[in-house]
Amino acid sequence: MAIQISPSILSADFARLADEAAAVPGADWLHVDVMDGHFVPNLTLGLPIVESLLKATPTPLDCHLMIEDPDRWAPAYAEAGAGSVTIHARAASAPVRTLREIRRHGARAGLALNPAEPVEPYEDLIGEMDMLLLMTVEPGFGGQKFLDLVLPKIRKARQLLDDRDAAVWLQVDGGVSDETIERAAEAGADVFVAGSAVYGAQDPDKAVESLRAQAQQVSKLA
Ligand code: DX5
Ligand code: ZN
Repeated sequence: MAIQISPSILSADFARLADEAAAVPGADWLHVDVMDGHFVPNLTLGLPIVESLLKATPTPLDCHLMIEDPDRWAPAYAEAGAGSVTIHARAASAPVRTLREIRRHGARAGLALNPAEPVEPYEDLIGEMDMLLLMTVEPGFGGQKFLDLVLPKIRKARQLLDDRDAAVWLQVDGGVSDETIERAAEAGADVFVAGSAVYGAQDPDKAVESLRAQAQQVSKLA
C-alpha cells in the first residue's frame, strides 16, 4: 500500500499560498479545503484561488469540497485542472452523475463521509470513485482532535475495498498527527491529510516526511 501525504493549506498563510505550497516539496498532494459557509460553518476559498494555485505549484491539488450543491460546482474544479475532486455524499443529490462528471474532466473522483455517516450505503458506488474520504473530525475547521470512533469504519472500508479488489484510495482527514497517524494507517488508510501537524511545524517538509515514515512503518507490518 503506497502511503501518500496531502498537507492541508487550511493551516497555511492564505496571503502566501505559493510560498506555502513550495514549503512542502515532498508532499504528494496539496489538500485544498473549499468551504461555503453553509455545508460547514466556515468560509474559505473557491475556484479563482484554485485556478491561481494551479499555476503557482507543480504539486497536484486535492480539492475537498465542503459545499452545498456539489453537483453544480464540482465539475468546474476538475475542468480547471485539479488532480482530485472530493464531494460529500450527504450534500450531493446525484453523486453518481457528479463523480462521473469529475472523471470525465480528467480528475480523480472522491466521495467523503462525515464521522457519523456509515460506509455501507455507498458500497455499490465503489466502482464510481477513485478515493473514499473518511472524515476523522466533523468538517469545518483545522486543529481539531482526531476521533478514534472512526477507526472501526476505516477498518470496515478497507475490508470492503480489498474484498472488491478496488484500486480506490482510502483517505483520512482531521486531527492527523505524529500521535494519531499510526492508528489510522494500522486501520487501513493510505492517504493522509494533515493541516496543523504540517503547517504548524517548524519545518513543514520534515513534518511531511516524518508522518510518511510513521505510516509506512505500520503499513509494512500490516
Ligand atoms: C477540516 C478540513 C481538514 C483540515 C484538517 O474540515 O477538511 O482538511 O484542514 O486540519 P487538521 O489536520 O489540523 O485537523
Ligand atoms: Zn479537508
